[in-house]
Amino acid sequence: MAKPWFLLLGVFALALSGFAASASYVRPPPRRTLVIKNSKPESHPQQVHTSMVGADHIQISWITEDKNIPSLVEYGKTSSVYDISATGKDTSYRYFFYESNKIHHVKIGPLEPDTVYYYRCGGVGEEFSFKTPPATLPIEFIVVGDLGQTEWTKSTLSHINSSDYDLLILPGDLSYADSHQPLWDSFGRLVEPHTSRRPWMTTEGNHEIESFLPIFSLHPFVSYNARWRMPFEESCSPSNLFYSFDAAAAAAHVLMLGSYADYGESSEQLRWLRADLAGVDRTRTPWLLAVVHAPWYNTNDAHQGEGEEMRKAVEEALYAARVDVVFAGHVHAYERFTRVYNNEANPCGPIHITIGDGGNREGLALDSAPFSLFREASFGHGRLRIVDRERAHWAWHRNDDSYSTVRDDVWLQSLSSSPSCMPVDQISPSSSSSSSTKEEL
Ligand SMILES: [Fe+2]
Repeated sequence: MAKPWFLLLGVFALALSGFAASASYVRPPPRRTLVIKNSKPESHPQQVHTSMVGADHIQISWITEDKNIPSLVEYGKTSSVYDISATGKDTSYRYFFYESNKIHHVKIGPLEPDTVYYYRCGGVGEEFSFKTPPATLPIEFIVVGDLGQTEWTKSTLSHINSSDYDLLILPGDLSYADSHQPLWDSFGRLVEPHTSRRPWMTTEGNHEIESFLPIFSLHPFVSYNARWRMPFEESCSPSNLFYSFDAAAAAAHVLMLGSYADYGESSEQLRWLRADLAGVDRTRTPWLLAVVHAPWYNTNDAHQGEGEEMRKAVEEALYAARVDVVFAGHVHAYERFTRVYNNEANPCGPIHITIGDGGNREGLALDSAPFSLFREASFGHGRLRIVDRERAHWAWHRNDDSYSTVRDDVWLQSLSSSPSCMPVDQISPSSSSSSSTKEEL
């Protein structure tokens, strides 16, 4: 017969195992779409967003219902004192029976790095402010994909905003308007408190296509290209669908690639990409990042194989250039791979990270697994802090509703500091001082 203290131990063990089961992560369901209506006068700016244009300029974009408002930005370093002004361009578009309001794009600068500027759009309405990115390391990027406009999006945005950062990278699928154009306006209003104060750099996802060709003669990306104009001309790209930009005085070069623009051997995108990479000097640019929408490596059931054609066409160029990290969205989950090239672990290949879990209405992806080091189907955002020429810290924050939790973090070492991956004349000048970390890739 069992002694009483054995029975007590058994009950305690059962209680512990029950606690472990209940503490395991349960995938949350999608939440309702938020529709944000305009509450401002017709002449006042709405949907204000900013993006980097070259090393020391910022583009400010906004929309007015009043078509007489000029594309004018007044700005300065002191609140309410606007000693500089700039004018830009406006555009609009039609989509079936929807006619957009006036979309303004104004480029301002030159601006000082790591500095707060106060600005007003169109000569009316409230004052906004943004901080320019630093011209030296460290620099911190937020990476979040497939944002959408649900209550999950709102909590992800509040988590992003809870700690400072320098710029945000969005690997596609912004509004989930899916041809219902007023949802683009609603999305612009939802993100304005964030997009007006830090630069957001985007590339397109499948939800930006919005084309019904060949039934209706609607060009794809009409709304995205009109509203989310990115600095493609500054990187000699012929299209808003793919471009590159430098950060921290070219310490990082970011390739914003187009999963839904042609990437074949004779395509404009591949020609542009090869020319762009040829211009990257890794002694000056220790960090090289790439962003796509559909992931090239994916162990989830959802969207399996959708990035494969692009991988076959483009992966070799990125590998030869020793790209450090490839970020993707599209799959509504978080997943981090080891360094990989051509479907094999490779110490000189990029780390692939899928972060398509901003908060969209479609819910989260399911699973099935090699080279995958961490995977979880929950909403969240990532932070890449490039500390110096050799080290960067990546952390993925799960969205646990009212708070966020770091679920995956790793120290990365730039390939430019790896003698076995770089030609000797291209190795980062300070590569000998690499410090050890908890986990380093
Ligand atoms: Fe997508």
